[in-house]
Amino acid sequence: MKTMKSKFLLMAGVAAIATSAAMANAQSYPPLAPLGDPPIPLDNQQSDAKVELGKILFWDPRLGGDASTACVTCHEPDQGWGFGDSLSRGYPGTVHWRNSQSVINSAYLGQLFWAGSAASLEKQAPSAAKGAVAGNGENDVMETRLAFIPEYVTRFNDVFGTEWPLIGDAWHAIAAFERTLIVNDTPIDLYLAGDESALSEEQIAGMALFNGKAGCIQCHNGAQATDENYYNLGVPPAERWETDGLAQVTFRYEIFAKGVTQEMYRKLKDDPGLYFRSKEKDHLGKFRTPPLRYTAYTAPYMHNGSFWDFEEVVEFYNAGGGENDFTDGTMSSTKSPLLKPLGLNEEEVEQLVAFLEAFSGDELEVEPPVLPPYEALASE
Ligand code: HEC
Ligand code: HEC
Repeated sequence: MKTMKSKFLLMAGVAAIATSAAMANAQSYPPLAPLGDPPIPLDNQQSDAKVELGKILFWDPRLGGDASTACVTCHEPDQGWGFGDSLSRGYPGTVHWRNSQSVINSAYLGQLFWAGSAASLEKQAPSAAKGAVAGNGENDVMETRLAFIPEYVTRFNDVFGTEWPLIGDAWHAIAAFERTLIVNDTPIDLYLAGDESALSEEQIAGMALFNGKAGCIQCHNGAQATDENYYNLGVPPAERWETDGLAQVTFRYEIFAKGVTQEMYRKLKDDPGLYFRSKEKDHLGKFRTPPLRYTAYTAPYMHNGSFWDFEEVVEFYNAGGGENDFTDGTMSSTKSPLLKPLGLNEEEVEQLVAFLEAFSGDELEVEPPVLPPYEALASE
């Protein structure tokens, strides 16, 4: 009896393994899922006072070169917490070279920026405030400004226990604020949590296409609708690099500053994306799969803002993606083999567009903070 029982258990075990292997084959991508709470790093715990300080700093242009360009300048709440132009505005006298990303739900991402060049919000904030075509700030100047603002001295002391504000703590406070910019009650969250009325018939049909015929799930998967992997879709080069002198200056500056070979420096006419980080040719033109959440508010789309609405994006995929300098044979093609003409008819395109809308929910509105004034330090 004992041996029969264990034999039965063994067989049941084998059957279970066989079933899960079959399931893994049928569904090899993490399914779309409701979004839970964001992870909070052990060395930067949340508190109300820290979040409030981070919010004020996010709005404060004194964290920048000439005190003109705050985080919020390029991450405007009424522009999807991004910037509503193809290329972002830049530091005065410059244009940025990429589309500004939304900071909504960035708390869940392991790799920030279009090419994933920052690993945490704490590391991302200083590179934004200091980057030459973003905030263009200098650490010691920004830190000194904070020390001349009594309200900051008090707030930093309350939150971090330091006598004077430290610039590194400013980045921690901003990151803590960003971890409150969460939208996780969208129609998709409600539907996946069991509320079948949260999506329309059209959107449900769009979801089936997303997971099936249109193949979006291959890259846009899991709770954030991104695999955080890198692909070249053949998004065409930014038009403004042809027409806008300031945009050209930024592009030449970036490829020079990020260090490429002489040959590449001369030849490049397009954003090499992940290549900048790895200097591996098969990374040319690859960008991080962006999350699809909140995108109803973040047009234009793609790393250079090439497309202005969901319909244009879906038509782009329907045609099998596009062409850029890293697909046309002048350099070795890195275009993803996952993109193929999809054969979606007009109705199916509309269904997919309707489904994309369901990733966004209500706009996240925040009351802007009152910025504290400077005050000369009283002499002894
Ligand atoms: C001059 C415009 C500008 C300013 C100022 C600016 N940003 Fe950005 N931000 C951008 C652009 C453009 C990108 C995408 C850049 C890239 O990928 O190379 C970006 C990307 C980000 C991301 C990445 C989101 C993601 O999905 O990976 C975060 C987070 C962010 N910014 C936060 C901030 C914070 C915090 C500040 C202030 C300290 C700030 N930004 C200041 C334009 C700006
Ligand atoms: C091979 C992986 C892959 C597949 C398949 C894929 N995407 Fe993407 N998606 C990406 C990448 C990578 C980007 C950013 C590309 C860039 O900026 O150059 C992107 C960008 C987007 C954007 C713009 C988001 C933003 O914030 O700018 C939308 C919308 C989108 N995809 C929807 C879809 C839909 C709908 C499908 C299915 C028809 C799909 N994607 C299939 C990888 C993929």
